[in-house]
Parts: sequence; C-alpha cells; structure tokens
Amino acid sequence: MKRLRTLQRSLQARLSLALTLAILLVALGAGGFGFVSAYRDSIRMQDDLLLQVGVLIASLGGRLPDDGAVGSYPGADHESRISVQWLPEPGQSRPPGAALPLPAGLHDGFQTVFMFHEDFRVYVQPMPSGRRIALVQETDVRDHIASRSAWRALVPVLILVPVLLLALQRIMRTLFAPLTRLRREIDQRRDDQLDPLATADLPPEISPFVDAINGLLARVQGAMTAQRRFVADAAHELRTPLAALSLQAERLQQSELSDTARERLQRLEQGLERARTLVTQLLALARVQAQDQSATSQRSRHVLREVVRPVLEDLLPLAQQKDIDLGVDGPLEAVVQTNALDLGLLLGNLIDNAIRYTAVAGCVSLRLAAPDETPPGCVRMEIIDNGPGIPASERERVFQPFHRLDPAAAPGAGLGLAIVQSVAARLGIVVRLEAADEKTQTGLRVLLDIPAAPPLVS
Ligand SMILES: Nc1ncnc2c1ncn2[C@@H]1O[C@H](COP(=O)(O)OP(=O)(O)OP(=O)(O)O)[C@@H](O)[C@H]1O
Ligand SMILES: [Mg+2]
Repeated sequence: MKRLRTLQRSLQARLSLALTLAILLVALGAGGFGFVSAYRDSIRMQDDLLLQVGVLIASLGGRLPDDGAVGSYPGADHESRISVQWLPEPGQSRPPGAALPLPAGLHDGFQTVFMFHEDFRVYVQPMPSGRRIALVQETDVRDHIASRSAWRALVPVLILVPVLLLALQRIMRTLFAPLTRLRREIDQRRDDQLDPLATADLPPEISPFVDAINGLLARVQGAMTAQRRFVADAAHELRTPLAALSLQAERLQQSELSDTARERLQRLEQGLERARTLVTQLLALARVQAQDQSATSQRSRHVLREVVRPVLEDLLPLAQQKDIDLGVDGPLEAVVQTNALDLGLLLGNLIDNAIRYTAVAGCVSLRLAAPDETPPGCVRMEIIDNGPGIPASERERVFQPFHRLDPAAAPGAGLGLAIVQSVAARLGIVVRLEAADEKTQTGLRVLLDIPAAPPLVS
C-alpha cells in the first residue's frame, strides 16, 4: 500500500505513465487510421480494376466467349477471379452459357447483387454494340484481400510501440540517474558529514534544490560548530576554578580536621575528581569532533607498538592498583596509516574501560588478529578483558554520550566510547564489540580494524 502511494507520488512513475499513455494513444490513432485507409484503398483499387477491365473490353469491341468465363487463367485463384458475362437484353432470359443468373434490370456502373446466398460486386459496362457486359467478383473475397492489406499496414505500428516503450524506460532511467545518485550519496553519509553535495552534472531543474540543501547543510554545520565550541569553551572555563578548588581541598587536607570533616573532605575530593574527569573527557570529545575531514591528511605511517607503549605506561598504575594483569599478547609490529595522537586517545579510552570495569585481579590483554581473520587493507587489533562485558542489546547504545550501564560500577563521565566512535570515524577505523567468552557471554572483546599503511615503494 505504502509502495503504491510512493509510486503515485513519484515523478518518474507519473511521467512514465503519462508518456506511455500518450504513446499508446498515438499508436492507437495512427494504427486505426492506417487500418481503415488501407482497407478503403484496397476496395477502391479492386473497383478500379473492375472498371479498367470493363473499359478495356469495350475498347476492344466487346468480343467475349459465350460462357463469359474470362479470368480463369491457369494458376488463378478460383475465388478471387473476375468473371465477365453478357447481361440479358430487356425481356430476354439468361444468355446461353452465362454462369450467373444476373437480372436484366441492373443499372450501368457499380452495385452489389445478392446471389447464391452471398453478395457479389458487379460492374455493368455498355458495349459499342449497345449490349452490356457485367464484371463480377465475390464481395467476401474482396473484403478478405482488403483486410489482409489493412493488417499489413498495422505491422510497423505494432513493432514501433514496444520499441518506443523500451526506449522511454531507458530515457527515464538516464534522466533520473542524477537524482538516484544524489539520494545514494545522502544515504551513505555519516551523521556528522555535512560538507556540501556535489552539484556538477546536475540538470538545471535540480541544482536549485541541491543548492538549497547545501545552504541548509552549511547552516546546520555552523550551528553544530557553535554548539561544540560552546561545550569546549565551557569545559575549558571550568578547568581553572576546578584546579583552584582541588588546590584548596589539598591545603585543607594538611590542616587540623575532625574525623567527620576529614570524611566530608574526602567525599568533596572524590566529587572534584569526577568533575575533573568530566571536563577532561568533554574537552577531548570537543577536540575530536571539531577536527574536520582534513584530519585524514594528517595520517602517517606508525608502528602499532610505538602508539600503544605510551598508552600502556599511562594506565599501568591504574592496573596495578587493581592488581590487573595488563599485557600484550604477541608482538605489535604491524604498520598502520593513522594519526598517532588520536589513535592513542582511542586506545586509552578502551584500555581504561577494560581496566575500570574488570574486577580486581582480572586480566586485560592486547593482541593482533591472525591475517586470515583480518579484512584486506587493515590491521585487526583486539582488546580483551575478563570483566562482566556488555550485553548484546547495549552494544550500540554505549557509544552514545553519557550512556552508562551501571554508574556505581566505577567512576566515569560516560563519554569514553563516544570519543572512541568520533576518532574511529575520522581515522577510518571500524570498531566492533563482542563477548570475550561466547559461551558464558562475559568479558569484552573490542575489535579494531585499523587501515594498514600502504607498502613502501623502494
Ligand atoms: N570493558 C568494559 N566492560 C564492561 N562494561 C563496559 C566496558 N567498557 C565500557 N563499558 C560500559 O559502557 C559504558 C560507557 O563507557 P564509556 O567509556 O563511554 O563511559 P565511562 O567509562 O562510563 O566514562 P568515561 O567517559 O570516563 O570513559 C560504561 O559506563 C560501562 O557501563
Ligand atoms: Mg570509559
């Protein structure tokens, strides 16, 4: 039903239908006209033939065999032949040898006579001697000949109509191809891909619409940039008072305090720590979202080990605090084409999560997948932990900013995976979450398909 309504609204479908109907109407008109005129022409030609034969016989002096069986030459179709016979004089009976019982009262010229249960076309021609001859032909045969030539006149129309309809479909598809291409381009865009649509090769009827869409995209882009700048500025502005507050709290620690005050101070410091994390994550998110597509050009060759090392060094104290075995499984010698700073930020957030959400004395490991498990042109890196994992139903939603499964599980701003997603989109990295242990559906395995560096040409 919905498809039918879309078809009714579709410009292409409506235009196709209108042109198809127009072609069919023209074909019907031309075919009908051709059929009728070919039929009439054929009848007229047959009348002409009777007339010419009559005039010819008259000019030859009107000598006829007595039985009047002119026209039965060898090979002639018996049915289609023209018979010629003398007409009886007024008051005379049928002349001897005359094949047909024609009445004497026929007038000169053409007429139709009914004999032997069928119609005959008869042409009466007076002779110089005063006697008259009749040229006779069966009407059915004449009609048959006429309809045969009329049908033959229809053949070109019957061939032309399907050819025209096919050509019409092809032309419509070619004409609407730019629109189809445009729709596909818009469909394939990411949410944050707001650069203008290409207007080259577009017909002038469509370009104003695309220009208007581009105008809208530019305005949305402007609004988004302003909003991100506001978030970044707000986070940045919060940093100074937060640092001052932390300093004051530290100073307070060193002064004489009652047990209750010290307990409250500790809670205050935890709150300050959370606020600092939030500000840091907000700034990181604002930074990666503010980068435009030119970030692609900032990619260069990096050995994965070199990118991973500083990240692990930063997170080692956190792992040690929780007695977590943080390690690399096998060498990380693959060379990737990336931005080391951004990839470090992405890995930092993922490894931080793995350590944070895995229970004390757990295990977090990094490894490269075997080449046969890796998509072509990529290096597949896996970050595996044996924590609680993320239920399959939540694996898409956790990438949304501030979406946390269990806020009590560990402190956090809820922005880490949003940062991961933004960085991945910029660097062309595909991120997938799986259960580390498929059977028990526990633990998290993050698969990262990172674009490999192109081979060096020596
Ligand atoms: N390795 C993991 N194991 C279990 N749950 C995880 C794991 N990684 C992420 N999660 C879940 O996904 C949620 C979102 O993670 P995300 O990194 O975006 O935010 P966060 O860790 O809460 O805060 P932060 O911005 O400080 O990283 C987490 O709150 C947690 O519930
Ligand atoms: Mg996190």
